[in-house]
Amino acid sequence: MITIIGSGKVGGDAALFCALKKIDNEILLLDVVKGLPQGEAMDLNHMLSEQGIDVNIRGSNDYSDMKDSKVVVVVAGSGRKPGMTRMDLLKINAGIVKDVVENIKKYASDSIIVPVTNPLDPIVHITYKTSGFDRSRIIGMGNMLDLSRFIQFIHEATGHSRDSIRALVIGEHGESMLPLPRFSTVSGIPLSSILPSEKLDQLVQDTRQVAAKVIELKGATVHAPGNAISAIVEAILKDRKRVIPVATPLDGEYGQSNVSIGVPAVIGRKGVEKIIELDLNQQEREWFNKGVDGVKTALAGI
Ligand code: LAC
Repeated sequence: MITIIGSGKVGGDAALFCALKKIDNEILLLDVVKGLPQGEAMDLNHMLSEQGIDVNIRGSNDYSDMKDSKVVVVVAGSGRKPGMTRMDLLKINAGIVKDVVENIKKYASDSIIVPVTNPLDPIVHITYKTSGFDRSRIIGMGNMLDLSRFIQFIHEATGHSRDSIRALVIGEHGESMLPLPRFSTVSGIPLSSILPSEKLDQLVQDTRQVAAKVIELKGATVHAPGNAISAIVEAILKDRKRVIPVATPLDGEYGQSNVSIGVPAVIGRKGVEKIIELDLNQQEREWFNKGVDGVKTALAGI
């Protein structure tokens, strides 16, 4: 079973994508708001019925219902309002996530946790420390969403099919995120041989700033996060050994410890099965470490 804690727009969308991809036959939506998860589940089941898809979605306000979950997605907490940074949410969301993780520890102690709540990287580390789970079972969804935006910008700049584009974003899911043109290609052709460096710099900047633009225009980001969550859950439950960037606790990788941040990793049934260390150049490493410092400062402040 997949449990999604937080049945707002993103949680509901994640359930929708997980169901349409038939990742698991059972999905549980949990929320503290009475009626919200139950109503969301009913609406989704009605959609699945027309599609003839026998994935059963339940809604509940009772944490004990998450018993036997293989994966628990944590979307609970407040989202950004226009003009806010993700880091502005830390004080509000840290306490909410701690309480949620205590319940995961109690009712789903064998599960893999996929934090989504912002600010993602500090929240991933709080989840790791509160749960006491092995770090391989803590997989934060942040850069997977960033790379979907980076791909869109590459698609727009080149006109090439999205299907031909392989892009990578690592580091903080925030102002210091690190889109990596040097590790991105169109059908294996390095991006740097397709687009001039000043254009690549622009795409990097656009990727960093686009979420705030979406929030300014429509009030929240929903479908891209919901889809990115389902991609990670699918990689886990289908044991895909997919190499994707996820926020996870580091223990010496990239020269960093006692912090959680986005790195490329092999994702399968055991969770993070291997962290892949890239040979970053000086500028890339400076951006990566800037993100690490920001996460460590945020954690020290709570
Ligand atoms: C975003 C939020 C989920 O990037 O951090 O859309």
